[in-house]
Amino acid sequence: MLTQETFDELRRIIKNYSGINFEDRKKYFVENRVSQHMKELGITSIKDYLLTLRLSQERVRELVSKCTVNETYFYREFYQLEAFAELLPQMAARRRKVRILSIPCSTGEEPYTLAIVTNEILGDLNRVEIVGVDIDYVALKRAQEGIYSDRSVSKLPDKYLQKYFSRNGNGWEIKPLLKKAVKFIEGNILDRRFMRSLGRFEFVFCKNLLIYFDTKEQRIAAAHLYDVLSEDGYLFLGHAESMSRISSTFRPVKVKGAILYQKETEEDEE
Ligand SMILES: C[S@@+](CC[C@H](N)C(=O)[O-])C[C@H]1O[C@@H](n2cnc3c(N)ncnc32)[C@H](O)[C@@H]1O
Repeated sequence: MLTQETFDELRRIIKNYSGINFEDRKKYFVENRVSQHMKELGITSIKDYLLTLRLSQERVRELVSKCTVNETYFYREFYQLEAFAELLPQMAARRRKVRILSIPCSTGEEPYTLAIVTNEILGDLNRVEIVGVDIDYVALKRAQEGIYSDRSVSKLPDKYLQKYFSRNGNGWEIKPLLKKAVKFIEGNILDRRFMRSLGRFEFVFCKNLLIYFDTKEQRIAAAHLYDVLSEDGYLFLGHAESMSRISSTFRPVKVKGAILYQKETEEDEE
């Protein structure tokens, strides 16, 4: 059993590294992940464990990886994909290459879904550059392997499952065409320098991440999303997320029933 003081210290360490905020009701969840980590490290006292975390960012990276919620699946929020499919050809007509960012990408279902839609709409994956970013290196390793369960592909239309996957044991493996189209990078949305190093994107998907942050971290993330979005680009958030209370630098636009965000221009502000 963690004391309240130890729990507070652990959640401070996790929040410092990732921005993820664990409320009191998540104590059991954190306790569970910590005891798993301690077992793996062969550490038996919580005092020694806290000391290890204080001395090693690598151990904190492992703990954060254990505490992330990686829930995701192919073709999540279909109405947003329809909006993306509607906007993509116009964007591609204006550029040699369209850049697409999925942050957080978790185990890869989201960026691979975007690769499928792109291939279906443009018929050429060389017209886009797709980047998937997540703070969790274990999730990213699975994304790179590209092997998925039946549950993960259950919302994917069968014709795409047949076209873009091959059977691998009990799972479904992404074909090389899609694997080659997505680049995965470990990174933190709250790290300004890292975010700037990514450059600008025409489509930014930041779905189901802001819900884990407090207002302060939400605002920092919003400022970084603003930085990576190109002037005519579109930002997609999760269905439970909205920019309205976080930042006034975006304006909502409705496309095919989906609320997306674009950069507020000076003209809009007048
Ligand atoms: C629920 S998943 C969302 C995946 C996908 N966008 C979707 O909506 O299906 C949340 C992900 O956020 C990642 N994450 C948490 N904090 C992060 C941070 N500060 N920077 C980048 N990724 C983070 C977690 O590792 C986890 O994989």
